[in-house]
Amino acid sequence: MAQEVRGVIAPGKDEPVRIETVVVPDPGPGEAVVRVQACGVCHTDLHYKQGGISDDFPFLLGHEAAGVVESVGDGVTDVEPGDFVILNWRAVCGKCRACLRGRPWYCFDTHNARQRMTLTDGTELSPALGIGAFAEKTLVAAGQCTKVDPAVSAQVAGLLGCGVMAGIGAAINTGNVGRGDSVAVIGCGGVGDAAVAGSRLAGAAKIIAVDIDDRKLETARSMGATHTVNSRETDPVEAIRELTGGFGADVVIEAVGRPETYRQAFYARDLAGTVVLVGVPTPEMKLELPLLDVFGRGGSLKSSWYGDCLPSRDFPMLIDLHLQERLDLAAFVTETIRLDEVEKAFERMHRGDVLRSVVVL
Ligand code: APR
Ligand code: ZN
Ligand code: ZN
Repeated sequence: MAQEVRGVIAPGKDEPVRIETVVVPDPGPGEAVVRVQACGVCHTDLHYKQGGISDDFPFLLGHEAAGVVESVGDGVTDVEPGDFVILNWRAVCGKCRACLRGRPWYCFDTHNARQRMTLTDGTELSPALGIGAFAEKTLVAAGQCTKVDPAVSAQVAGLLGCGVMAGIGAAINTGNVGRGDSVAVIGCGGVGDAAVAGSRLAGAAKIIAVDIDDRKLETARSMGATHTVNSRETDPVEAIRELTGGFGADVVIEAVGRPETYRQAFYARDLAGTVVLVGVPTPEMKLELPLLDVFGRGGSLKSSWYGDCLPSRDFPMLIDLHLQERLDLAAFVTETIRLDEVEKAFERMHRGDVLRSVVVL
């Protein structure tokens, strides 16, 4: 029996979001219906609303979520009703070249749920990142559900579904930060702060946080930054070199997504150091670099896709570390809000007032 639930819809380009009744069908083969308990508000939801990701309106927004599996379709064996799960962007195929080479985050053939949720008049909805979790219930592929310890609150667990995982993963998976390393993080919003927390977790000796906003630098310190640089006042490349004995950081993580910060990241790394790009630029952005610098500085320039995470490995591990009080995921939740407050949360996010607003259902 299809069910009717409340969900947050982006009806058209730049139109305010609104609550609508969403029809959630029973799960088909390989699918699950999840009762959503919490879902964070992410920049990507705002980009969907603005039409920056696709024209496939209307969208059912929300993709950073945790909840309880309500029902599963035929052939689903990995999760069952009652399981507490975090949702991820893609159910990977396990067979394509990317999967077989051990990089499933680049899977070519994701098995996300087909788009079968609708409005009551039958209009098909496009769920954000194949999830659509600003809703009381949502239909996903069972492979998008990762079981974690139910001792953690849903508002904390959901964070790992996107931004916080991207930041922690940029440090521990892509950047391979290790004990004693020096790390610089440029841009300390939710993603950058998560990279700071991930670097601390990995045992970095020096963690230099760079931002243009002193409020953000203060938060970064509480997440584990050992030094802070306001790049409005001080040249961050010089400052990072100075703080690392004149060399540059072993790993520099860029979490803004702009040409000038990509450039800073490039020059702030030590010779043979690693640059991790996790900030997402827009299509028209370009960066020009002297080839002799690209060649001569050695090392590597890597982009980090979803923190290069393996949900089934990384989600339960990070939740365990949180429960053991070795990683404070709760610090990323600035406020909890209701489903009808998402539009306001976008405004606060735009002003840089929050790390994460989390809808609690
Ligand atoms: N130099 C340094 N920091 C900057 C600069 C700059 N030129 N411009 C902006 N910032 C800081 C902001 O002050 C803010 O603290 O970068 C941070 C960006 O944080 P958020 O807007 O909260 O974004 P976040 O959710 O952290 O995502 C950052 O990662 O995954 C991507 O799409 C995401 O591109 C985005 C980036
Ligand atoms: Zn695959
Ligand atoms: Zn997101």
